[in-house]
Amino acid sequence: MHRHTTFRQLEIFEAIARLGSFTRASEELFLTQPTVSMQIKKLSEAVGVPLYEQLGKKILLTPDGQELAQAAREIFDILNRYTMSVAERRGLKQGQLRLMAITTASYFAPRLLGEFAKLYPGIEASLRVTNKEQVLASMADNLDDLYFVGQPPEDIDVVATPIMDNPIIVLAAPDHPLAGKKAIPLSRIVQEPWLMREKGSGTRNAIERMFNAYDINIHPRLELGSNEAVKQAILAGLGISAMSRHALALNPPDQFAELDVEGFPILRHWYAVYPAGRQLSVVARAFLDHLLKRNEAPPAPPDRDMP
Ligand code: PGA
Repeated sequence: MHRHTTFRQLEIFEAIARLGSFTRASEELFLTQPTVSMQIKKLSEAVGVPLYEQLGKKILLTPDGQELAQAAREIFDILNRYTMSVAERRGLKQGQLRLMAITTASYFAPRLLGEFAKLYPGIEASLRVTNKEQVLASMADNLDDLYFVGQPPEDIDVVATPIMDNPIIVLAAPDHPLAGKKAIPLSRIVQEPWLMREKGSGTRNAIERMFNAYDINIHPRLELGSNEAVKQAILAGLGISAMSRHALALNPPDQFAELDVEGFPILRHWYAVYPAGRQLSVVARAFLDHLLKRNEAPPAPPDRDMP
């Protein structure tokens, strides 16, 4: 049988077996009925045993026919898997990866991308660092593959995967009088001049929620538009602040004092997010898998720190 059977014949036979009708099989495969009949006739001759019986318009498979239909499905499954893995390897050799990171995620996102680019040097990657509004706009327009954010948006349907812890710690200049003190109460820390990120910052939201939860109002002495500006202001003696520990990645360990304050660190997560309707590219999927593997942390529920 093998020398005479073609994939085309098996494909037609599988469709007839599944749909129970020559007419429907010919429609599905965009073939004429005579072509379908002719191919099935040839197949039956090559196999040498009856494959089906015709009862009016209905086609009933014989046991031999059922076995052949099953064999055909297995062959197509194997071929599909093969085609997919070839496409996957090709995609990972030369695909594109477009990432967007919200401000503070810029402290770790390039490092993650760097690790991945070493594994797959052929990939063309881009990383845009921007603010929350632009992240939301890009998500709505389906422009980037993955987004690094500190809080998954609630008004867009997204798939959010926690990829890393994001502790928010209280920072002061190293010679600050509270440096080294244990369990400083929130009511005490709020008396310090606070330096705050701009409105809309995820870090700021998290800090304000923490104080609100204790019914304490916090009045920033100064608002600054970036973590770097906040750090400079702390060192200039203008006040204290709180921010992601990741924002200190490149600072010498003793440049700032981390204050031991009640309720801190605020335990948040970084998420890799994409719109729920989007089919991730092979490259984006591989990148997400890479992030999960390096983290190996149990998935955490989404943080609910939107105001
Ligand atoms: P941000 O960081 O404070 O720069 O907005 C994002 C977040 O922590 O949610």
